[in-house]
Amino acid sequence: MLIAVCCDRGAPGSTTTALALGVSTPEPAVVVEVDPYGGDLALRCAAPGGRGEAFPPTPTVLTLASEARTMLSPGLVTSKAHEFTESTRIVPGHFSAEQAAGVKTWAPLAQALRDSASRVVADLGRIHSSSPTIPVAAAADVVVMVTRPEVGAVMHLKDRLERLAPVLANIRNAPPVIVPVVVTPKRIAGGVVDEVSQMLAPSNAAGVIAGVGWIAFDPDGVELMYGAKVGGKDAKIPVLRSAVVLNEQLNQAVGVRAYPAPGGGAA
Ligand SMILES: Nc1ncnc2c1ncn2[C@@H]1O[C@H](COP(=O)(O)OP(=O)(O)OP(=O)(O)O)[C@@H](O)[C@H]1O
Ligand SMILES: [Mg+2]
Repeated sequence: MLIAVCCDRGAPGSTTTALALGVSTPEPAVVVEVDPYGGDLALRCAAPGGRGEAFPPTPTVLTLASEARTMLSPGLVTSKAHEFTESTRIVPGHFSAEQAAGVKTWAPLAQALRDSASRVVADLGRIHSSSPTIPVAAAADVVVMVTRPEVGAVMHLKDRLERLAPVLANIRNAPPVIVPVVVTPKRIAGGVVDEVSQMLAPSNAAGVIAGVGWIAFDPDGVELMYGAKVGGKDAKIPVLRSAVVLNEQLNQAVGVRAYPAPGGGAA
């Protein structure tokens, strides 16, 4: 399954939400920072296993984009990823935007991400309808659009959705599945999701919205997560707990069966 995570101006949270989704799923997952403007995931992560080491300088998403042009295989993405936690691997972005000048098209990378045997969360950063990363958004099973609860941010999201949906539909030959996700403190999440849903309901693109989700605003938890502290008692921190729920919502949006609960019953 390929999940693309993106955001709009004034509503940051794409990389953090992508990492939270990657570390909060019971199956092996790879988080790939596909931000043409350069990434900061490698800088922010203490890896592996939270020991404070930096990732080696390569591979990055540019390595993966280059290999995807000649050797597509279901294991390619995982083989170019650094270990982050026991079940999560990371392909960091390149450092500066100029380094991506040689990538003429991100379409082969989109194909590699889509064909991966592992669950992939692609962080596309800011996106618009002529972004170079549009092929990745079009290849995704579900597109998460991160927003903030402020009226201005939601209005920008509504406009972005209306412009993106037809572009993605045209490439896919089918409507996209889009889940707006609002960054909000847990205690007011229910009300915020209702408000954002109401604001988006009159949109021309309402038909492609498969529900509105939320991710906890949790600065302390986010710091622990970037330090790879995501297991044991740390798994209970709000940002990770909300990401577990969001992963299940995304699975349902694309019709993937819910994870079996430990012990064999339905989740
Ligand atoms: N759920 C959250 N809780 C608390 N802080 C958050 C959350 N999500 C993002 N942030 C903070 O907001 C800032 C921007 O987040 P992030 O780097 O994820 O955004 P981005 O959209 O990837 O930005 P960029 O365009 O720089 O790549 C960071 O300081 C991050 O720690
Ligand atoms: Mg980012």
